[in-house]
Amino acid sequence: MFGTLRGLVRAAPGHRLPRALRESRTSRRYASARASATLRLLEDCLELCQDGAPRRFSYVWLRDHCRSASSYDPATHQRRLDTASVQLTIRPSSAAVDDGLLTLTWPGGHVSQYSLGWLAENSYEWKKQAAVQPRVLWSAGVYESTDVPSAKWDKFMSCDDELKKFLRNYLLYGIAFVDGVPATVEATESVTQRVSLIRETTYGRMWSFTSDFSRGDSAYSQLALDRHTDTSYFQEPCGIQVFHCLKHEGTGGRTLLVDGFHAVETLRRRSPGKFELLARVPIGHEYIENTGSHRNHMVAIGPVLNTYPWNNELYLIRYNNYDRSVINTAPHDTVQRWYKAHRELTAELRRPENELWVKLNPGKVIFIDNWRVLHGRESFSGLRQLCGCYLTRDDVLSTARCLGLQA
Ligand SMILES: [Fe+2]
Repeated sequence: MFGTLRGLVRAAPGHRLPRALRESRTSRRYASARASATLRLLEDCLELCQDGAPRRFSYVWLRDHCRSASSYDPATHQRRLDTASVQLTIRPSSAAVDDGLLTLTWPGGHVSQYSLGWLAENSYEWKKQAAVQPRVLWSAGVYESTDVPSAKWDKFMSCDDELKKFLRNYLLYGIAFVDGVPATVEATESVTQRVSLIRETTYGRMWSFTSDFSRGDSAYSQLALDRHTDTSYFQEPCGIQVFHCLKHEGTGGRTLLVDGFHAVETLRRRSPGKFELLARVPIGHEYIENTGSHRNHMVAIGPVLNTYPWNNELYLIRYNNYDRSVINTAPHDTVQRWYKAHRELTAELRRPENELWVKLNPGKVIFIDNWRVLHGRESFSGLRQLCGCYLTRDDVLSTARCLGLQA
């Protein structure tokens, strides 16, 4: 499946960006909008054939997706039609294709028009082979040799083009950096708010911590942390993680980054059955905290891998061996196979060539796609002060779309 998804590309030094990220979504309209098309009204659907590719649309879907002013608001893309008022057996009384437009007349006289390009782009046949999110999958060597530029604080805060370049890199690679940020919690908050809303969690809005064991989570120690995704014990894990190292007087403490999707796609190609198992078997994650005034008990249940059902595209990896709780959601024989699949994924995630090590110095803020890129850290000595926050995924992607990026 990996090889057939448009836009899911492997990186190479000097690569060009996927087209969807070089052009806006609007300008990426179906190229053959005015190409000749043939039309057939079948018993239960309309078949439109363009460039030799037949695409089928059910009649009730066509009426429900009428783009006329009485049925649809083109400014907000919201529906005005009451779908429940449409007979499920509805069928057009006439149909014609002319000048790139399909025109349907319905019983009662209502007329619907659709551009052929819009129909092609919104057909199931198109959607099932199109990537929702074009990405560049990376190993450490690929990422380093690509030399992805960091955004610069001043320009980032004032120039939409700089923000757009930053988000383009973030969408492609799952990580992006801003350099030159003042080493304060306030400046870190400002730089994140340039991108999106902050997601407040039990750890606060902006968190700032030293290795003082003030909270129960292992992050609040000096210990090394193996690669993981955060908040796996939230039913919807936090979308984006932001880190800023404000101070470190000591040694060690480098940040580990691993492209989880790169590892998973390798697993999918080599062992599709194991991929399916990890995408199907639900696993619990849990976190209990009883520290000072903090009382928390978080539980989430979901598969390690989440894919869109219509195209099997991966959109979320939930991988945290610290927080994985009792597996009691599958029979023993499935569990045995699940462990084999999980072990193979772990081996892939632990390949040294997949480990990107970064030293976060004061001034360098990193944004991590917590649904894709795993993070960890090496142990450290001395005083280390880190701050950061989580961002709401929906709002980050919304910002990207408003800037004309596919997200
Ligand atoms: Fe973490």
